[in-house]
Amino acid sequence: MFVGTEMLKQLEEIKQKAQQEMDAVKDASALESWRVRYLGKKSELTRVLRGLASLPIEERKAVGAFGNELKSHLEEVYQLKEMALKEAQLKASAAREVIDITLPGRRLPVGHLHPITQTINEICEIFTSMGFGVVDGPEVEWDYYNFEALNIPEGHPARDNMSSSWIDHKAEPGGRRMLLRTHNTAVSARMVETLRPPIRVVSPGKVYRYEASDATHTPMFHQIDGLAVDKGITMADLKGTLYEFARRFFGEDRRVRFRCDYFPFVEPGVEMAVECAVCHGGGCRLCGNSGWIEILGAGMTHPHVLQRGGIDPEVYQSYAFGIGIERLPMLRYGIDDIRLFYGCDLRFLRQF
Ligand code: DAH
Repeated sequence: MFVGTEMLKQLEEIKQKAQQEMDAVKDASALESWRVRYLGKKSELTRVLRGLASLPIEERKAVGAFGNELKSHLEEVYQLKEMALKEAQLKASAAREVIDITLPGRRLPVGHLHPITQTINEICEIFTSMGFGVVDGPEVEWDYYNFEALNIPEGHPARDNMSSSWIDHKAEPGGRRMLLRTHNTAVSARMVETLRPPIRVVSPGKVYRYEASDATHTPMFHQIDGLAVDKGITMADLKGTLYEFARRFFGEDRRVRFRCDYFPFVEPGVEMAVECAVCHGGGCRLCGNSGWIEILGAGMTHPHVLQRGGIDPEVYQSYAFGIGIERLPMLRYGIDDIRLFYGCDLRFLRQF
């Protein structure tokens, strides 16, 4: 009898079983166990083919050929399935990660200018519309421009009122000293020296006082100093300019008040106050119970200051003013603590 017949039958059975099981394979791990079962070293196929040796030579050839064919057939079936699974997986992940290009983009938060910067811009606009130019000066300043040129020599009591932050504590005797400027009038002192009349400039910027913070003080705050030099300038020009500024910034109804004051670099000197926005004159924490808030100092520039800058006070007259900036938005919006501007609390800052 043909011994190989039985073996061929077994091989045929393997082929069919393998195909059936392969049809049921749905994922990589099932595929792998299929591979071990039908193509691995201990597979049924290997076991059957091991029996080849016992066949007569003629049959061995025929059955061997069939066995080899079956083996490459199973390998092909395996590879096809492997490819099909990979493709299906790719399709699935592509479907999962699909990008909908019609969706609107994510909005980035857009910032805006700090309320103090906004206020500076607004004040500069008011003064430029009246013919003033905007100038700038250094925040680290020489003693000369901050004090000396402004009639505040060494030992003058006005120095003590302006708690200075000195840069070089141990300057040589007679040496030039530097400090963080305590007021922006230092820029006006520079302008008297560098510009020639007619002069009309404002200089906004940061100033520094070595002081503790409270509801109305911070060690850094902002001022805008103004300077006008021309022939025939009078106190009436100063008052007119500042009234117009107050009217444009606060509106028609807000009352303003001028009173005499003393500053070493002006003569006469005045202060201008605005009715308190929080209590409307009744008295509160913001205005220290007076009903008024001083927002600027001003006056007719002292002849010595002009002279130092090389401008003849017999020919030219001049006025100057210095506005405290933080107080303006405080007055306008009824903010009763200056520290809010520098506390970085976005709930506060976003309101402006
Ligand atoms: N610099 C003064 C201060 O910080 C304010 C001031 C007063 C400025 C009178 C002026 C002025 O230009 O004329 O207290």
